[in-house]
Parts: sequence; structure tokens; C-alpha cells
Amino acid sequence: MAVLTSGGDAPGMNAAIVSAVQVAASAGAEVVGVEGGYEGLINGKFRPLVQTDPHSGGLAPIPELPRVGGQGGTMLGTGRSTRFFDPEHRRHAARVMRDSGVEALLVIGGNGSMEGAHALWSEHGLAVVGIPASIDNDIGHSRESVGVDTALNTILDACDRISDTARSHHRAFIVEVMGRDCGYLALAGAVATGADAVLLPEKNPERTEVVKRLERLVRHSFSGRRQKRRVLVLKAEGVKIPTEALVAELSEAVADLQHVEVRATVLGHIVRGGNPTFRDRMLASRFGLVAVQAILAGRSGVMVCWSTSDRGEPTSDAFVKLFPLDSVLQETQLLTEGTSDLQNERIHRLEAIHGAMAF
Ligand code: F6P
Repeated sequence: MAVLTSGGDAPGMNAAIVSAVQVAASAGAEVVGVEGGYEGLINGKFRPLVQTDPHSGGLAPIPELPRVGGQGGTMLGTGRSTRFFDPEHRRHAARVMRDSGVEALLVIGGNGSMEGAHALWSEHGLAVVGIPASIDNDIGHSRESVGVDTALNTILDACDRISDTARSHHRAFIVEVMGRDCGYLALAGAVATGADAVLLPEKNPERTEVVKRLERLVRHSFSGRRQKRRVLVLKAEGVKIPTEALVAELSEAVADLQHVEVRATVLGHIVRGGNPTFRDRMLASRFGLVAVQAILAGRSGVMVCWSTSDRGEPTSDAFVKLFPLDSVLQETQLLTEGTSDLQNERIHRLEAIHGAMAF
């Protein structure tokens, strides 16, 4: 079996590798790691992840593995391979896998990685199983992907710190968070930090309308009646309005308010780093177990999902279901377009819990 991590790294990817390798080794399966994602597959960059245990004579994970389980990033390296979009390179990668004696591939990554996994499986009949890992939480059918919880905890910590200084100065802060085309991190972060507003790409907000609404929010919040000392707006990076432009236009709109300032912080890649939280390690380990069980049972073209719905195929874990990769990709498309029922449900829940303006 080969394991690869692909796309943006996510905290917990290492925990998924460790779990998968431990389960596979104890079943007597040889495991190699692919270095650098799909690019490594094209180039045949494999490294052993198991070795013979001198005591038992059976297979055991290499000593490095347990140590990296609690670390962020990915020990295998990752990448966004453009060559893998080309069917010729995929054909080559499939040949490399077969020539190296690799019988199954475990792909740990986001939605682009699942597209690659789907292509390898559907075009070349290779045994491929996926584990959803991306801070964006934009992978179809899985309520949660590996890395999301750590990213949200980082966002909370950053917003709490920003709020301390914002309250001291009567400032309005626009905090931009990652998430590509998905507003999940901004949305969930807004609920947990008690933000005053959240800007989501799914709502495709119009620039002048956003500035008008934020102006009203700032005026109202800092008015004598509300006497708030901080305004916090979470903005998802997928929102098309540049953050600096928003700050400039909002500052101009509230220029008459004395002692009120508008500032911005773009959290960027800080949100993607850091050691995984307990929840991400737990999710990753359980995904690793079920994914390897699926591979050993001869399954292919499927992804493990965190799901309690009636849909999907039950597994040994009541919270983990198997979904066909083509269905995962269709559902992912709806999430990305903002037309998924799940996304609407999340937005309605936020509005109900928080009374915040999601626009
Ligand atoms: O998919 C994870 C993610 O961090 C997105 O939130 C973000 O848009 C993107 O990757 C950034 O990718 P890169 O690090 O390649 O610029």
C-alpha cells in the first residue's frame, strides 16, 4: 500500500498517516510513503514506512512515525501537482505504481486530491481510498475534515487577542481567514468568537452594500446606546472584495466618528500550521483505521466521511461512513457553488445562534 498527502497541508495529516500505517502493519501489509503528493507518484518517490520488528519478526511502523503523530504539516511533504491534471502523466503514475508493486493507494487531502484519486481509480482501475483532510471543510459528505478543528482554534486564539487590543482602542477589526471558496472557517469562527458580522463567499456580497451595512454596524455598535468597545468582522478569503479596500472605504464612511478606527488583520497561513488538537488527532486516527480496513477488504473509489446521516455505507465506526468518490465530488461541487443544503443549514444555524449578520 502507498500513502500520499496532497494539496494544502492540514494539521492531523501526520496522525492519519501514523494510524493508517499502524493498522496496515499489524495486518502484515507493506506500506510506502509517497514524497511530495501526486508529483512524487509521477516521479516514483517512495520511502518505506514499515520495517521488520526484530522482536516479533512481524511488520512495525518505522521509529519516526509515532513521533510525528502530534505534529502539524505532513511528514511526507505535499504539493499541488499541475502535471497530474494531464491524463498522460496520470497514466505514467499508474504505471509507476504497478511497476513498484503498489496494490492500493491511500490519498489524504482536500477536494483537488480527491479528484486525482477519482481519476486514478476510474481511468486505471487502481485501488484508491481517500481521507478528507483540509482546513477549508469543503469536501462533500464529510461533516468535518482533518485539520478544521485546529484551524478554528487558531482563529479563536487570534481573534481573542485582537479583541483585547481592539477593546482598548475602540477599534473595528476586519479579520480575514483562509478557506478558499468556502466560508466555513469564517462562519464557525464568527459564532465562537462572538463576532459582529461575517462575510461569506457563498452569499457573494456586493461591495457598496457591504460597506453600507458595515458602516451601520460600526455606528450602531459605538453609539452611546450600545457603547460597544470592539467590532469584529470575520471575512472569508473567498469574498471577492479586497480586505484593504474594505478597510479604506469603511474608514472613510465613518471618518466623522471620533476615536473610532478601522483596522484589518489577514491571518493567512498561520491558520494552517500548528500541532493538531485532540479532535483532529482523534478524527485522523479513526479515518486511518477505517480507510485501511476498506483497503484490506478490497474496496476502491471511496472516501471515509465523518457522518451520522443515514446515507453512506456503514463501517466499523458508527461516526465514519464510506461514500463513493464520484458522489463526494458532486457534493463538493455544490458546497463550492454555495448551493449545498449543508451550507444553508450551517448559515441558518449561525444566524439563529448568534443573531449575527451573515452577508
Ligand atoms: O486549501 C487550503 C488552503 O489553505 C486554502 O484555505 C487557501 O486558499 C489555499 O490553501 C492556499 O494555498 P497555498 O498555500 O498553496 O497558497
